[in-house]
This record gives sequence, structure tokens and C-alpha cells, in this order.
Amino acid sequence: MQNTQSQNSFNPTPEINHDHVLILDFGSQVTQLIARRLRESGVYCEIWPFNHASEDRIQEFSPKGIILSGGPCSVGDEDSPRAPDIVFDLGVPVLGICYGQQVMVEQLGGSVEAGDSREFGRAFVNVTEDSALLHGFWDKGASEQVWMSHGDHVSNLPDGFKVVGSSDGAPFAIIADEIRHFYGVQFHPEVVHTLHGTQLLKNFTHDVCGCSGDWTMASFKTEAIDKIRKQVGNKKVICGLSGGVDSSVTAILLHEAIGEQLTCIYVDTGMMRAGESDEVVNLFKGHYNIPLIHEEASDLFLGKLEGISDPETKRKIIGATFIDVFEDCASRIGGAEFLAQGTLYPDVIESVSFTGGPSVTIKSHHNVGGLPERMNMELVEPMRELFKDEVRALGRELGMPEDFIRRHPFPGPGLAIRLPGEITKEKLDILRRADQIYIEEIKKAGLYDEIWQAFTVLLPVKTVGVMGDGRTYEYVCALRAVTSTDGMTADYYPFDHEFLGRVSTRIINEVKGINRVVYDVTSKPPGTIEWE
Ligand code: XMP
Repeated sequence: MQNTQSQNSFNPTPEINHDHVLILDFGSQVTQLIARRLRESGVYCEIWPFNHASEDRIQEFSPKGIILSGGPCSVGDEDSPRAPDIVFDLGVPVLGICYGQQVMVEQLGGSVEAGDSREFGRAFVNVTEDSALLHGFWDKGASEQVWMSHGDHVSNLPDGFKVVGSSDGAPFAIIADEIRHFYGVQFHPEVVHTLHGTQLLKNFTHDVCGCSGDWTMASFKTEAIDKIRKQVGNKKVICGLSGGVDSSVTAILLHEAIGEQLTCIYVDTGMMRAGESDEVVNLFKGHYNIPLIHEEASDLFLGKLEGISDPETKRKIIGATFIDVFEDCASRIGGAEFLAQGTLYPDVIESVSFTGGPSVTIKSHHNVGGLPERMNMELVEPMRELFKDEVRALGRELGMPEDFIRRHPFPGPGLAIRLPGEITKEKLDILRRADQIYIEEIKKAGLYDEIWQAFTVLLPVKTVGVMGDGRTYEYVCALRAVTSTDGMTADYYPFDHEFLGRVSTRIINEVKGINRVVYDVTSKPPGTIEWE
């Protein structure tokens, strides 16, 4: 990905006015889901890689409880990760999940062994004791569906613990020390396949840790506005709008916080979707009356891209041209000290890699990387703590129109990366029209909200067809639609054939220049969502 900026150093939030929980990440694929479930129940939490959580830092963070995530290691492996000792000395409740449970047991004097039988996927836990963790939904004697993914299991409990539930492959599937409030589960309560998993996590955070569940979007909004005012003072801020939900919500939040000190810049690169520019300008100028520079720069962008086919070169040219245009716009308003960006939590979280030591996996979606350094601007990133659908909830809190909030993500380089090969105005027009039909049909079928992102790609390939009595020789259009939670991994959307046939017929009949339509069935990985 180009045009990105690497300002994502691990940096926990300095001041939190809500009960909060710390999640120590041991590298599980589903750690983010723990955070999602907690936040859904109104509990603020942060994910820290286990190896960035120093004892001082944990103490300073002062969590009401700590969750130890799962992870790919075995506690018996040499150099496998451990939780800092302070986790068990702070006097707050601890919940260990999968590897987190095993690490807790091992560190507190119990033992873990490699099992003969592994459990992956659905399993059943028999509940043998009552526990605060299960209170109100799983009774003693019940057999409950959970989702397991483990080879090792706990074989000996530390002092003070009792078994609360067991499964075929995990005799200690649920364990509890009700005095110290330490709990462990071998399964993953954070995934939807564990029925009542959300309730289990809620019991832990609300009943055991005593969190009040007061972290709401309304409170986030008020606090974010306060923070922005403190950071910015009476200085000027610019914010680049891409038409996507992240930059739009950032801008509207900023506007509520600092009013006319904010100027938004929307650059029409000539590579926007049909109707995009009008929608953005209407929303910002018409609906919110926010100072907006609408910069028409299509000739500039298309001129610079003339004759360029290489995807990376395209992205570099677009990134550099964005910076030039932004710089020019900013100087027209007398400069700005701050640049607002819609950085989200998944961009900030460091994940733990067990292949090359701790590493940083970052996916930034910013379009004006390089600008802050060049113009010596400080960044304002009010959504660094939010997940994508929390951004949408914030948009609703700010009164943004639903249509706008629910829009699929759109990449900064725009349609340029959906036109493999050379970009021309003619091809852009063909692509825009095909895309419009495709999205129209998806909406008509009621599928738009089920899909993370859908778009068309115009291939630089012509094929032979027959229309009426004549031969045609036109471009191929590829349809792409994926489901995803954060854009990092994705599955292709399983449209039925009738739907695909309908879209294909409409595009070929209505878009001059296309005579063949294909559907992309690649997931990510190994593919990426965009084609370039
Ligand atoms: P890929 O193609 O990397 O895309 O699987 C993942 C998500 O990121 C979007 N994307 C971008 N967004 N600037 C952006 O603002 C970019 O350069 C960029 N490249 C990809 C893509 O649309 C998808 O949602």
C-alpha cells in the first residue's frame, strides 16, 4: 500500500476516564475479537503485545481486570512467552483464554501437557460447578457448545483453583480461583461459535471486575471533542476528505470541536466514483456548512499518469501529486499547524509475530503521507482507539446521514488501482458506469450491507463477442465483492448465479466498451482486495 505514513508506534491512551481492562496479546488470530466483545458491552479496553507490557506500564494503566489472550506457542517451548509477574500480583481479576489459561496455570505452579487428542472447532463443555464466570447462563450439569483450538491442555491445577467445566479433549476446560478472581478457559469465548461467549466475557468484566460499562459512543464523542480542543488550542487544522467514512467522521468530529479552525480539502483526482464529488460536497457544504476547498485537479493527476502502467509507479505519482495539491491548498488559507487523519485502532495495534520476533503489522489507509513532515504539521488522530464499526457508530452519534456512514471503503488512489494498465479518461468513464450499475444491483438485491466492499475492475484486455449480428472487440470487466472485518483478510462474496447473470447482462447492454464480465473468486490472502 502506498501513501501511507508510519506514525503508528505503540502508544497506549494516556488518560482514560472509564473503567478499563487490559488485554495482553500472545499472538492469537482472534485477539481483536476479545476487544470487540468487551467494547460492545461498554467496557473500554486496550490490546498490548505481551512483550511491550512492562510492569510499570501495567501498574500505571491501572486496569480493573486483565485478559490473557490465546497464542500459537506451547508453554513447553523454549522461550515461549510469559505474562509479567505483576499481572498476578496487582490484586485484579485475571482471565486466561487458551494459551493465556495455560500460561497462567504454569506461572502459578500448575502444569500443562501436550495432549494426545487435539480439539479444533466445535466442542462441548460439561459444566460441573457453579462459578461467577458462568452465572446466569450456564448452570451446573449443562453441556454447552464452545469453540476450541488447542493441542496442549492444563493437566495440574495450581493451589486455590477448581475445575468448573471439562470437555473430551480438555479436562480443565474452565477453571476458577474464586478467591483471587483468577479464571481460565481452554476455549475461545470471543468467537461467535462459542454460544454465550459474549455473556461469559461480560460476567468477567462487569460482575467479577466490577466495570460499570459506561464507555459509550456518546461519552467517547464528548471526551474526544475535549481532547481535540486541548491539543489544537486556537490553531488551524486541515483535513483531507476522500469520500470514505473514516475521513468524513474525523472531519465532522473536528468541526464540532473547533468549528471554523478546520478546513477540509477534497481533491477531485478525476478518478472518483460516479457522483462521488457531488455527494461529498453536498454533505460538507450543504449539510454541515464546513469550510471546504473542493480542488478540481483531474487534469493534473491524469496528465501525470499518462503512459504509466506499473502499479507502484502509479501509486507513487498519485501520492506525490496529492501532497503538492494539499500544500498548495493549505498555503491558500495561510498554512495550518495540524493535519487531521482518520487512523483507526487496527492501524495502531501491533500484532505479535513468532517467526521473526516481535514485529509490527500495520495497515494504514492514509492518503497524505509525507505531508506532515514536509509542512511541519502535527497529527490529530481522534479515532486511534476505534474499530471500523465504532467509527460508523460515532458517525451516527454525530448525526451523519445513514447512506454515507454505510458506504463501502474506497482507496485513496481511487479508480487508478482498479484500472490495470494505462489510465485514460475513456477507460475511467467506462469503469465508472460499470461500477455504478454493479452497486445499484447489489443495493437492489439488499446485499450492500452484507458486503465489506464491492467494485468493478476494467481489465486491459479486449475479447471478441457478438452483439446483434455483429462482431465486437471490447474490454473485460471483473466484478469483485468481499466480506471482511477489517480489510486485512477477506473472502469473496458467494453471489448466486442469477444475480451475477443479471449484473453481467446489464453491464454489457448498457456500457459501451465492455463485452465480457467475469467474477473474481480469490480470497485474501493469497490475493489482495484491490487488484493493484
Ligand atoms: P488490499 O488491496 O491491500 O486493501 O487488500 C485492503 C483495504 O485497503 C484499501 N486500500 C487503500 N486505502 N489507500 C487507501 O486509503 C490505499 O492506498 C489503499 N490501498 C488499498 C482497499 O480498498 C481495502 O479496503
